[in-house]
Amino acid sequence: MGIKCLFILSLLSMQAFPQSRKVELLSDGWEFVKKDLSIDEALVRGGELWDSVRVPHDWAIVGSFDLNQDLQFDRIIENGDTEAKLYTGRTGALPSSGTGWYRRKLVSFKKPGKRIYVEFDGVMSNAQVFLNGTFVGGRPYGYSSFSLDLTPYYDFNRENILLVKVENKPFMSRFYTGAGIYRPVRLVELDEVHVAHWGTCVTTPEITSKHGRVEVGTTVENHGKAKSIRLETDLYDPQGIRVAHAVSNGKVDGDADFKQSCKVVRPLLWSPRNPVLYTAITRVYADGLLRDSVSTRFGFRTLDFDKDKGFFLNGESLKLKGVCLHHDLGPLGAAVNKRAIERQLEMLKDMGCNAIRTSHNPPAVELLDLCDEMGFMVQVEAFDEWRNGKCKNGYHRFFDEWAERDLVDLIHRDRNHPCVIMWSIGNEVREQDMGNGGETARFLADIVRREDPTRPSTAGFNNHWKAIENGLADAVDLVGFNYKHFDYAKQHDEHPDYILYGSETSSAVSSRGVYKFPMKDNWTPWYHDYQVSGYDMDYVPWGSAPDTEFAQQDDHEFLLGEFVWTGFDYLGEPSPYGEGAPSRSSYFGIIDLAGLKKDRFYLYKSVWSDEPVLHVSPHWTWPDRMGMPVPVQCYTNYPKVELFVNGVGHGIRTKDASGKFTRYRMVWEDVKYEPGEIKVVAYDESGEPCEERVVRTAGEPCRIRLTADRSRIKAGADDLAFITVEVLDKEGNLCPRDASMLFFRVEGGGRLRALCNGDATDLTSFSSNYMRTFGGKLVAVVESGTELGEVKVIATGERLKSGTVTLKIE
Ligand code: GAL
Repeated sequence: MGIKCLFILSLLSMQAFPQSRKVELLSDGWEFVKKDLSIDEALVRGGELWDSVRVPHDWAIVGSFDLNQDLQFDRIIENGDTEAKLYTGRTGALPSSGTGWYRRKLVSFKKPGKRIYVEFDGVMSNAQVFLNGTFVGGRPYGYSSFSLDLTPYYDFNRENILLVKVENKPFMSRFYTGAGIYRPVRLVELDEVHVAHWGTCVTTPEITSKHGRVEVGTTVENHGKAKSIRLETDLYDPQGIRVAHAVSNGKVDGDADFKQSCKVVRPLLWSPRNPVLYTAITRVYADGLLRDSVSTRFGFRTLDFDKDKGFFLNGESLKLKGVCLHHDLGPLGAAVNKRAIERQLEMLKDMGCNAIRTSHNPPAVELLDLCDEMGFMVQVEAFDEWRNGKCKNGYHRFFDEWAERDLVDLIHRDRNHPCVIMWSIGNEVREQDMGNGGETARFLADIVRREDPTRPSTAGFNNHWKAIENGLADAVDLVGFNYKHFDYAKQHDEHPDYILYGSETSSAVSSRGVYKFPMKDNWTPWYHDYQVSGYDMDYVPWGSAPDTEFAQQDDHEFLLGEFVWTGFDYLGEPSPYGEGAPSRSSYFGIIDLAGLKKDRFYLYKSVWSDEPVLHVSPHWTWPDRMGMPVPVQCYTNYPKVELFVNGVGHGIRTKDASGKFTRYRMVWEDVKYEPGEIKVVAYDESGEPCEERVVRTAGEPCRIRLTADRSRIKAGADDLAFITVEVLDKEGNLCPRDASMLFFRVEGGGRLRALCNGDATDLTSFSSNYMRTFGGKLVAVVESGTELGEVKVIATGERLKSGTVTLKIE
């Protein structure tokens, strides 16, 4: 293949290039039914059964909670169970099991001679796709993206009917999966000669201060009779200025792979602080005509993982301050919404978090796009199960047939994202404890090395001694320990070649605004109200308080960093109340299911962020604890803080590394409750007071306040406003123990999409228009309509002055 590379600077705008492929997002126009139909029934009859839906769609999230729906009688080895137990709420107590059908007319593409593909970003699960009643293809793994060639089945002379059958078996997951076509779908019309699906691979094998070498690999599919192909690739900097140009000409016989190499002068480097993105535009010409063009974003950054010195980005030492995220978006379920993900990332950024682990499956592309743009490093994880399942109907059923394909597709889809820094081949797989585990690990790690030699493979081991003994740890490039804070140093000594980090850490549990007495270090928390303590000392038996992991990370340079379990609460897995309890969502989140910050947010921020943090807890409304101890904690990065209760000093605290809970927080244990106010005053290095925080005892609930995250949202049903709803006393203090039932109305354009209060035990459907506050708060999610104008949200409650907020839809 002839390669010619020119270094031309030009001011041509990227948008100026003709788009020769036609892509239609299939969002509207779908019909859905949750029923087990035959293909004929789905194709022709039963029109009256079908509901109109918009994709992304999660059929389960709008359903009612019912703990009978997902009872699982199981022995969870990872929890240390010695016998099976009846688990409740494990997958969210929502109706995600069952069979559903989607149907859509395809009317737009009418040009014979073109090729037609349908691309699914994710269908949960067991998707089977039919066109005009003929089976086209499918995908068992609900998290995999896939493309199907509809051309042989597509009738250019009439309306075509796309049908998608979805089947979720019970016992297929340890957590909420969502149900249905929960990620976007696109119809793509292409020339006979075109860039293959995920057919570009951009790498930056050489980066110096003077230049960056860029290699662009392109696979061209040639279904036509083209004999020669010209490939032109232009690279653009973030301002849209062309910084390099490459042309390749090749005689071809069928499909062809091109490799182009360019140099970019003084490339700007991508990092969490400065996420600079470049774009490669590739155009394919055959017989002198433009046939296809694709755009690929990429970035320049170097990754170094050192067994003794930890992680380096662009040559600079950096700890991974990461969180694990499940894919559900709380009350929106699994249905992807870019704004909802962006809001999560905005909060994590504010906390000082710089990394995400997509536990335990391929993420939405939207997440990776946002991580590229906002500056997060990502561990993309492929599997939670290999051949030996954790759930009766889990991924193990498909492993032998699909694992290689699923992993390769994942890498091909995501390899151009600069945010992706490592590939995880598995989380806590049962094979750690089995003789053939090392072999399977090598099989998967070799796929990673073959498909993407630029990034390391990794896995998360909870049974780490076995994973070491069985060769799993040796198979991967980076050895991830789940909850092994007590053993990092020893394993580092014994295995000096391992590059170690905390792939899953802490698993602390807390309920926002709930505090339990006495405040204590507690690895088996259990309380009668099915809540856990906001003092941030409750965690599961295999976990630790956040402080324990902070200390390990600070004391051991060799550790790459940590991924806390979890950034946000998620649906399902309500430990420690997984048996016979009303709970249906987790307590692990640093931020709750509604997206409201727990106190823990400020503990992490005080350790991870450079911004000043001064946060005091608990709330100060304890009429039932008059004269009784109510310990006070301050999460801060100031060196010295003094506490005052109703103006009386309770002493100055500094951080003290000798105690488990004094190195990263300041604690006043002996405070007796009296109504009024608590105040913390922070002093700077020179001893001057520089900031203070006051929390006051709240009076009776009096009014409702609504505060929207943004005052304007975009028209079209995909933009969302997140409205924080609070019950306040007449002075404007939050009533922190309020549980008022509030009722919602929406006027004008837009629609109430969901309500969520962050209470894991609340079984009110997210799609109700009423809900109780939890800790005096909840979040209303409002979706924009197609019309421009205004949307007004009104909340009322008994004996409360109503609250309203008005947003512009633009
Ligand atoms: C880990 C597991 C996670 C979650 C967590 C809860 O063992 O990898 O998926 O279950 O425990 O602490």
